[in-house]
Amino acid sequence: MISADCVVAGCRQLLTCRGPAPKRGRDLADLGVVEDGWLASRGGTIVFAGTEKAFKAGVRVEDRAVWVDGAGMVALPGFVDSHTHLPFAGDRAAEFRLRLQGLTYQQLAAEGMGIQTTVQATRAASLDDLRALCLKRLDRMLLTGTTTVEAKSGYGLNLEDEIKQLEVLTEIGRRHPATVVPTFMGAHEIPPEYRGRSGDYVRFVSETVMPEVRRRNLAEFFDVFCEPGIFTPDETRALIGAAREAGFAIKVHADEFVNQGGAQLAAEAGAVSAEHLIAISEPGIAALAGSATAAVLLPGVSFFLMLDRKAPARRLIDAGAAVALATDFNPGSSMLSSMLAVLRLGVYTLGMGIEEAINACTANGAYAVRRHGSAGSLEPGKAMDLLLCDASDYVSLVYELGANPIRTVVKNGRVVVRDGRKVEAA
Ligand code: NIG
Ligand code: FE
Repeated sequence: MISADCVVAGCRQLLTCRGPAPKRGRDLADLGVVEDGWLASRGGTIVFAGTEKAFKAGVRVEDRAVWVDGAGMVALPGFVDSHTHLPFAGDRAAEFRLRLQGLTYQQLAAEGMGIQTTVQATRAASLDDLRALCLKRLDRMLLTGTTTVEAKSGYGLNLEDEIKQLEVLTEIGRRHPATVVPTFMGAHEIPPEYRGRSGDYVRFVSETVMPEVRRRNLAEFFDVFCEPGIFTPDETRALIGAAREAGFAIKVHADEFVNQGGAQLAAEAGAVSAEHLIAISEPGIAALAGSATAAVLLPGVSFFLMLDRKAPARRLIDAGAAVALATDFNPGSSMLSSMLAVLRLGVYTLGMGIEEAINACTANGAYAVRRHGSAGSLEPGKAMDLLLCDASDYVSLVYELGANPIRTVVKNGRVVVRDGRKVEAA
């Protein structure tokens, strides 16, 4: 008999999202639904997921176990937000106004605003202030279902402030219930000190910052913005080569606005993910479909920047790419922290099915941050990270466009959101 210290009983629908990740093609539409589903965990790890009958036959519940009532609820895995720029200071509301007057995101960047505005604000912020901002954002994310979040540096762009951002990520990972996956993105932009000397900056990032980040074990991934005017494909390859040698796994901001063959480059380099892909080409789609590199789509960007162009989710899925959805939470191109909203944007704006979008926010999101061994699905061996939604059918999660149906969030077998509010640790 399996023994359990946490039980989620009698969920109207349990979306397990079980099976091997990543899910590709038709498998992306399979949610592994169990009607009247029960879950049990021990020490934060799921030991059972299935029907009441099997639960009663196979699970012994410990005396002091936590019981969560799933009656009338839809249960699904906690969302994995696989792409955010979480640790930033300030905002870009003034630039948002300029965009509403007709300036584009790229025009603002060319005028010295955009990412540079946030670099100034983030450099000026103390570590304590940045940490407080991030903790508040993680709370907000938790209420909209995010239990695992990748977070990138890249608003420091010098040794001291990149390290500051990454230290903040380590600290919030210890203090907050959400799992934080840190990414070093010193190659997010070329800082003003290096204007016109991108080669020198590539060397500085590779030879000075990368080894220090590694020595202090502050990040698991390295990410680079491969885009005209930022880093060329050759520079991107040089940076990836150095990062790989230093021991980082690789992510690439690829084909966001202009196609530079970023998707092919990411696939050839064995990157864990190629992200954005609004401007991906047919050969790019084929390259991702034939590789282990995840295609992380960020529908908040096209929406927030009011672009007609969108990432070709349908073509990527049909070709067999490992498609995930994420927020890209950042102050300039996607001031959107809600994975619930991203789930909906995946359906309403990218032409994904509801089931595909749910798997892309859970199982495939976990794959895109190499956490598919522990997160993204509700099956034995995975972490007990789940959402209970007040809904009679999972269709409502997307259909009821403005509502937040998430009442309960369980993280590692502990209730961290109850009645839609965060439970403060005693
Ligand atoms: O993913 N593309 C580069 N980075 C972000 C934007 C960051 C910003 O504008 O501050 C993105 O879109
Ligand atoms: Fe991004």
